[in-house]
Amino acid sequence: MTTSGDHAVPALSIGHLQAWYGRAQVLFDVSLDCMPSEIVGVLGRNGAGKTSALMSAMGVGIRASGEVRLGGVDISRMPAHSRAHAGLAWVPDTRRIFANLSVRENLMLGATAGRQPVGPAIDRVVQLFPLLGSLLRKHGYALSGGEQQVVAIARALVSKPRVLLLDEPTEGLAPIVVEQLRAAIAELPGEFGVSVVMVEQNLEVALGLAGRVYVLDRGRTVHTAASDEFADSPELQNRYLAVGQ
Ligand SMILES: Nc1ncnc2c1ncn2[C@@H]1O[C@H](COP(=O)(O)OP(=O)(O)O)[C@@H](O)[C@H]1O
Ligand SMILES: [Mg+2]
Repeated sequence: MTTSGDHAVPALSIGHLQAWYGRAQVLFDVSLDCMPSEIVGVLGRNGAGKTSALMSAMGVGIRASGEVRLGGVDISRMPAHSRAHAGLAWVPDTRRIFANLSVRENLMLGATAGRQPVGPAIDRVVQLFPLLGSLLRKHGYALSGGEQQVVAIARALVSKPRVLLLDEPTEGLAPIVVEQLRAAIAELPGEFGVSVVMVEQNLEVALGLAGRVYVLDRGRTVHTAASDEFADSPELQNRYLAVGQ
């Protein structure tokens, strides 16, 4: 018998997820836990199902069955906006900044899912990403790729999520911007009390930020490892990430 408190409830728990686009099944048995204030990485080749897994957790754009629990509460039957209200936030790989709105307006839209007053939340994200301060009046269309990614993450944070789903945050960004973003993401659990599930193709970034990684292959979770173990194993990297295997 265990006493309560021995086993923390995961911030996000995905279990036995299956998912379909139309009739085509793309996820078969995906399971993943993210503990409070943990950063976990999701790795896998192109087409492995990483984006589909995040979309299934969020409840957008894909038909899914299986378990999705947020802080122990089953959210798998909720529509996406209710999941957002419950504390799940998603930053898609497309970033989706509103081009004709200012950065401040983009951030204010992020707050509509939350319950807090908007002003202080925006101040906090500006503290974390100093770059944002100088961008607040700029319009979405005037932002670089790196700036868009920062705004997309900041917008998600303004809603005060418990769990943040990040889909390839560093994709297509210059190395110096990747470095800034990596530093900022590392601060998220401590600064915002948020847990992070991060799909990331940049192995160095993924393994540097995440304590544990899940590997997807052809729609299945095929491996879970401590990041150090994965980093030290060319064999694992080859088996699950090399192209043409
Ligand atoms: N909108 C869609 N309609 C049909 N099939 C899709 C769609 N999006 C992705 N797929 C397919 O689902 C599988 C998983 O894709 P995805 O989740 O995007 O993988 P990853 O993010 O790991 O690259 C792939 O076979 C891909 O071709
Ligand atoms: Mg993807």
